[in-house]
Amino acid sequence: STKEQKIGEIIAEHQGREGPLLPILHDVQEEFGCVDVEAEAIIAKALNLSRADVHGVVSFYHDYSPEADPRPVVQVCRAEACKARGVEKIIEQAKAAAGERVKISTVYCLGLCSAGPAARTGDDLHIRLDEQSIAKLVDNA
Ligand code: FES
Repeated sequence: STKEQKIGEIIAEHQGREGPLLPILHDVQEEFGCVDVEAEAIIAKALNLSRADVHGVVSFYHDYSPEADPRPVVQVCRAEACKARGVEKIIEQAKAAAGERVKISTVYCLGLCSAGPAARTGDDLHIRLDEQSIAKLVDNA
């Protein structure tokens, strides 16, 4: 499968360096939004580890999730320029609007620094957010 191929590429990038497991898990998590049992099996085989070993590491670190989060995601920039433009004052509104239904994730710079606070949903970028517009954004996510 293409997923298997992609995981293979990620493994190849890190294999041979010292301690390849964590960087591999990191990249797999980034790419797929989770490290599922299929990924664990492929990684274990490639690194000559047991599945239990790999699973142990995946469940130990909070950075890795065993399943992709099915919720819609709103990525809110909380880097310097957006902080200066008041993102911290509107993040609570975003969280309140999100409840459990939407995932608010933090990103560091969307390249829209002069028009922040900025956020991304899927391929859409949103700028000059305020309390109302960020809540609306979350509602529509
Ligand atoms: Fe937020 Fe650059 S700091 S877009």
